[in-house]
Amino acid sequence: MFLTDTHCHLYFDAFDADRDDVIANAHRNGVQVMLSLGVDVPSSQATVNLAEQYEGLYAAVGVHPNDAHKAWEGEHTLEALRALAASPTVVAIGEIGLDYYRDRTPRLTQWHVLRQQLDLAADLGLPVSLHNREATDDLLGILREWVTDLREEGNPLAERPGVWHAFSGTEAEGRAAFELGFLLGIGGPVTFKNAPERRRVVASLPLEALVLETDAPFLAPHPYRGRRNEPAYVRLVAAQIAELHGLSLEDVARLTSRNAQKLFRWREAV
Ligand code: NI
Repeated sequence: MFLTDTHCHLYFDAFDADRDDVIANAHRNGVQVMLSLGVDVPSSQATVNLAEQYEGLYAAVGVHPNDAHKAWEGEHTLEALRALAASPTVVAIGEIGLDYYRDRTPRLTQWHVLRQQLDLAADLGLPVSLHNREATDDLLGILREWVTDLREEGNPLAERPGVWHAFSGTEAEGRAAFELGFLLGIGGPVTFKNAPERRRVVASLPLEALVLETDAPFLAPHPYRGRRNEPAYVRLVAAQIAELHGLSLEDVARLTSRNAQKLFRWREAV
């Protein structure tokens, strides 16, 4: 089995007591690669430190839209992220994006912080991992501009610009993002009992567009909903997608891991 968790936050204190066990349990369940993402500079630093300690664990560095109102200090933050990205464990810029649901950060600030980090990603040649809540049209607009610029500049990142993490949109929105080159991250919510529409959307999207994720410690899949999530549970997401697409668990694990490896280019190829 070769599973990949493309989105988790392993530096959270929820894992302080048993982080070694959590990572060992992931490996036992066939999760061979994990990507842990920062939400500000200190957590990005923490995630790089972890990635340097564990085999198969990679890091993304970035400032989350909900943290931007307190964590963004302009050039200073950009330089800190750039310095962290020098670690060979860093394969992406994230978690970045727009959040109009929590709305902790003024929208103008969110747009500015997102654009600055998209420019950093373009400069470093690293794909992005995107957060979106109730901001789909604005996010797609900003991404369309960014990818158009990448193409015009001949930046090879245009071929693998990033992933839309925790994708929960419509089939049309998923296809629009995929046409721009973005993959769609599918996690625990696809397994929730009260989510038949989400399953219908995931069933309608091509497997080439999908990668798996947990968002651990959040969003644990059924039957662990409401409890602490961990990368091993990405297997339950894979099982749900296998059922929806009429494939074996092993095939979904391998095909989505291949999609993830093409995007993030880590050593562990399927
Ligand atoms: Ni996250």
